[in-house]
Amino acid sequence: MPLTSASLRAHAAVPMMNPMGEADVDRAIAALALAPGARVVETGCGAGEVLLRVLEAHPGATGLGVDPDADALDRMRVAAARRVPGREPEVVQAAADAAGLEAGGFDLVVNVAASHAHGGFPDALAELAALARPDGGVVLLGEAYWTRAPSPEFLEALGGATADELPLGLDALQDAARAAGLEALAVAACTEADFAAYEEGLAAEAERYDDAEAVAYAGRIRERRALPGGASTLGFALLTLRRGP
Ligand SMILES: C[S@@+](CC[C@H](N)C(=O)[O-])C[C@H]1O[C@@H](n2cnc3c(N)ncnc32)[C@H](O)[C@@H]1O
Repeated sequence: MPLTSASLRAHAAVPMMNPMGEADVDRAIAALALAPGARVVETGCGAGEVLLRVLEAHPGATGLGVDPDADALDRMRVAAARRVPGREPEVVQAAADAAGLEAGGFDLVVNVAASHAHGGFPDALAELAALARPDGGVVLLGEAYWTRAPSPEFLEALGGATADELPLGLDALQDAARAAGLEALAVAACTEADFAAYEEGLAAEAERYDDAEAVAYAGRIRERRALPGGASTLGFALLTLRRGP
């Protein structure tokens, strides 16, 4: 979902703009086999935390971050100058489909909590696969899924979501990836504790601001989480996927 300004401000209080635990993200990144000179793109990179961690863990890789949000990209530029000096990722301020990305041109395609940049689930899977090198390029995908069929109240609390927007279960997510030509090398599911820390962290940060948009944003998170199953209906996973021949 595109970020509102309240959401963007609240995200300054959490490590990443997605609910995965940092250890799970770092483990997935460390396990990537990236050769020197590997080209990495992150679409919907936001403030670039995932991309910067990839570049830190793989000193031979070069990065490209794509996002339409100028404020988020400014945050990435500042962090990159400090964390990967001399190897700052190239930045393209654009929607993914307007960024001129080369099909098959990337050793690693990162897309975390941003499949909407490619039309959402499931269409994004084929688009992400098409960006990866045909001979074994990898997609690091962070995507949401339903852990159980969402109630109408839960969908409404998500702002009018529909059940078909996400796969029902992690197996269904992997099946859809396979159908798009992507074979799972590793899968890490976000824990409920990590999800809670993320969403409650966002709400608490938003409540520090004295404006109606931020207070409403926090209220929506808290009301949704208070519904029956509200803290556990939405799952999220980080999948390392290899593009097959
Ligand atoms: C929830 S954030 C995820 C950021 C980052 N991947 C992370 O996990 O920390 C989603 C990002 O997608 C971006 N976005 C929205 N529409 C997009 C599009 N059409 N193309 C590229 N990025 C887009 C938003 O600006 C936002 O920064």
